[in-house]
Amino acid sequence: MESILVLDFGGQYNQLIARRVREANVYCEVKPYTISLDEIIAGNYMGIIFTGGPASVYTEDAPRVDTNIFSLGVPIFGICYGAQLIAFTLDGRVSSGAETLTREYGKTPLTLMESELFIGISRETSCWMSHGDYICELPTGFYAIATTRNCPFAAFENPNKRIYAVQYHPEVLHTPDGMAMIRNFLYDVCGCTGTWKMSSFVDNMVTHLREHIGAEKVLCALSGGVDSSVAAVLVHKAVGKQLTCIFVDHGLLRKNEGDEVEKLFRNQYDINLIRVNAKERFLTKLVNVSDPEKKRKIIGEEFIRVFEEEAKKIGKVSFLVQGTIYPDVIESGTGNAMIIKSHHNVGALPDRVNFEEIVEPLRTLFKDEVRVVGVELGIPEYLVWRQPFPGPGLAIRVVGSLTKNKLDILRDADAIFCEEVVAAGMGRTISQYFAALTNMRSVGVMGDERTYDYAIVLRAVTTMDFMTADWAKIPYPVLEKISNRIINEVRHVNRVFYDITSKPPATIEYE
Ligand code: XMP
Repeated sequence: MESILVLDFGGQYNQLIARRVREANVYCEVKPYTISLDEIIAGNYMGIIFTGGPASVYTEDAPRVDTNIFSLGVPIFGICYGAQLIAFTLDGRVSSGAETLTREYGKTPLTLMESELFIGISRETSCWMSHGDYICELPTGFYAIATTRNCPFAAFENPNKRIYAVQYHPEVLHTPDGMAMIRNFLYDVCGCTGTWKMSSFVDNMVTHLREHIGAEKVLCALSGGVDSSVAAVLVHKAVGKQLTCIFVDHGLLRKNEGDEVEKLFRNQYDINLIRVNAKERFLTKLVNVSDPEKKRKIIGEEFIRVFEEEAKKIGKVSFLVQGTIYPDVIESGTGNAMIIKSHHNVGALPDRVNFEEIVEPLRTLFKDEVRVVGVELGIPEYLVWRQPFPGPGLAIRVVGSLTKNKLDILRDADAIFCEEVVAAGMGRTISQYFAALTNMRSVGVMGDERTYDYAIVLRAVTTMDFMTADWAKIPYPVLEKISNRIINEVRHVNRVFYDITSKPPATIEYE
């Protein structure tokens, strides 16, 4: 299979580069810059992309590459830090922006010259710059192919060696022709033909799973989230009734979620599904617990216990399905892989259930690709585009101690919020949006009556990676409608707040 190596130097857009490559229908793998030359050779890659990164090439501990990588005959494309590294390693010169010109940051006009990288792109375009260091002298054999007002070597190449480099970020949307440049590198320079398609992924994975699983039994912990649902349906397509899904309904799910999951899996797919009604059990354990960490711990442990009990009834299974996706497994160049799931509540499952091997059919896919696979498999859009939802569920969205009443209030308010965000056409532009119930009550007046009721807070963020996030700028009229509906339709709520805090300093969830 055609494959590109994305060599990770720790930049913030690295996963985006990989996603862009795959959007161009070329498979790629992200590996830390520390992998050995032998591994790179063994990977049989058709091209290598050096990513950006926060370091300065001339500092002593800066990430470097084995210089022999430039003699492999494999095309190389350096981006930002990657470009500086190419210049520096091949005896060009890089200096700090402070010493020479002004630093470049943001959208910048870009003038292109003749190059294979720029086929089909108009000479005057723009790009997204984000760098402090400058390439002030190119290595021998290289020449400039693009300039900006402050940057004479905004892009450069050595076509004989098939090495290309850009100082800007072609992977971000602020570089309007960036995707075309990436495609040109992949197709014209590397000779890729674009065989990576989600439909062939499904067919190949189903064949592989069938061969690998044989006649054995498979178990899956279904959460109702996108990843575990897609993984389950994929495995079901491969081995049918050999798969059993256990869905622990802990009563901390969103409105109608449990019933929707059951309907989909039992009715649409005829999957063996065990829905465990453990609502009372979880609530009893959580009553009067207000410490966020204690809540998480109790839910995590109880989940494992319930799952374990159900799994025992089935007897020995050979395989356990997990919905692990690519961002969970990428080991980043700087060792700070995305830790969004460090608090995942099913992490301990494999230690407690009797099985032989974990199956992770989505391990190589990004979230958007998982969604495409979901659509391929006929999973309804509402589920495929579902918000990320934390394992401990609504328990960490009711601030302080839990009651069934509080959970019901939250579920209703949240459903209204989500409905209106979708109705306003923002369902896919906001990365995550949900309501939370604050632990404050305050005085209000409704009709002629004084009320003393709860305050709902609306949280909506945009983010690339959930490590940092910005609050979403939902228009006032939309917020107004949401607030009115919540106050009118949900009893015991008399105030609605909109959270305008970014992450950091706040987190996305409330606990
Ligand atoms: P925070 O609140 O840390 O959330 O900014 C970042 C992202 O992680 C999700 N999240 C969780 N996901 N189990 C999960 O599977 C958890 O315990 C958990 N806590 C937070 C959160 O929804 C957001 O997308």
